[in-house]
Amino acid sequence: MQTEYRQRREQLMAKIGTGTAVFRSAPAAVMHNDVEYAFRQDSDFFYLTGFNETEAVAVLAPHHQEHRFVLFVRPKEPEKEVWTGYRCGVEGAKEIFGADEAYSIAELDEKLPHYLEKADRIYYHLGRDRAFNETILRYWQRLMATYPKRGTGPIAIEDSGPILHPLRLVKSEAELELMRKAVAISVEAHNYAQEIARPGRYEYEIQAEMERLFRLRGAMGPAYPSIVASGSNACVLHYIENNRQLQDNELLLIDAGCAYGYYNADITRTFPVSGKFTPEQKALYEIVLAAQQQAIAQVQTGNPYSQIHDTALRVLTAGLVELGLLKGEIDKLIEEEKYKPFYMHRTGHWLGLDVHDVGVYQHGDNAQILQPNQVLTVEPGLYIVPNTKPAEDQPEIDPRWSGIGIRIEDDVLVTASGHEVLTAGVPKAIEELEK
Ligand code: GLY
Ligand code: MN
Ligand code: MN
Repeated sequence: MQTEYRQRREQLMAKIGTGTAVFRSAPAAVMHNDVEYAFRQDSDFFYLTGFNETEAVAVLAPHHQEHRFVLFVRPKEPEKEVWTGYRCGVEGAKEIFGADEAYSIAELDEKLPHYLEKADRIYYHLGRDRAFNETILRYWQRLMATYPKRGTGPIAIEDSGPILHPLRLVKSEAELELMRKAVAISVEAHNYAQEIARPGRYEYEIQAEMERLFRLRGAMGPAYPSIVASGSNACVLHYIENNRQLQDNELLLIDAGCAYGYYNADITRTFPVSGKFTPEQKALYEIVLAAQQQAIAQVQTGNPYSQIHDTALRVLTAGLVELGLLKGEIDKLIEEEKYKPFYMHRTGHWLGLDVHDVGVYQHGDNAQILQPNQVLTVEPGLYIVPNTKPAEDQPEIDPRWSGIGIRIEDDVLVTASGHEVLTAGVPKAIEELEK
């Protein structure tokens, strides 16, 4: 893997030329009353280094003669490590993580400006670590003050995202291997959930069984808070209380996936708790499934990203008209966003080191064109939120639809010849979901 991290740094350095890029690790784990919660490395930092500790800074200075990759890290301190865990230390940063030079993080003020003073730009993403943002601005200000003496130094700070994130958007074979692993574990957990769900069980029981499998199979844990939503809870997009008892004749929506080696899976299935769809559930489910299948068919190298959402939206809107939940001409309903009370989110997102991964969806007036080795989710849904007031020109909602929430989400890899549905191992056809 170290070879791959090095290749990623080389790819980035080839694009920044005479600039210096600075990346900050994630802040230390949050402490609540002296209890430490899990640390999770910043994804950009991890992508370029594989380094998994806090209080670190990575510097890429392609123009430097000897130190093109520099790490500032916490020095080894055995007494502290007893409490807060292993540190790789300054020597380890060089030996294990391949830094050309490494320093204690305490030397940042003294050493980092040297790597900036001959650069014409600082590539840095203003992040949530306000104090570190201030630090970078302070260095920059100081370098600008002494600029006349040298005639060199950064005259701008540029966000590193637009350069780094297109690299992250296209996954390498090593990344795909980790994603397939995250997917395999998540698929197994969904299948198990479908097996054990029945009236009388609690949402949290299903959640617990799935998350147990995540850890049991070596995943880091859930990629995001698991959503196990029965009945009308499925109409709350981020329902995570998961404390209700499953009832007969209801649907169960499960949106859950694990993180494995920092890479995420993100899967949603909706199925009848007692093994049979009611006619209303089935009618809505068929629409969502058709929308999803047709949207997935648009995942093809060369297609614009937006075509996925547009396709799903058209199928969903046409379906709502067919069921009498909307009335009017489909183009107009779409243009006027009349579907919004029933479908209020987008049809997917990039997937990778982050669940909502980096990468743009649209370049101003130009489309983002799908390329091989991108991974994205396709996740249309329909939600008949109880007590929704229809727009003036729209029909009243017959109570028999009320409280039905459906989403179907798969993770899809763009390939040279089309696509691969990575999460195809979880059933979603009506015949497969009925018992
Ligand atoms: N589970 C988060 C999402 O589907 O985007
Ligand atoms: Mn998703
Ligand atoms: Mn999801």
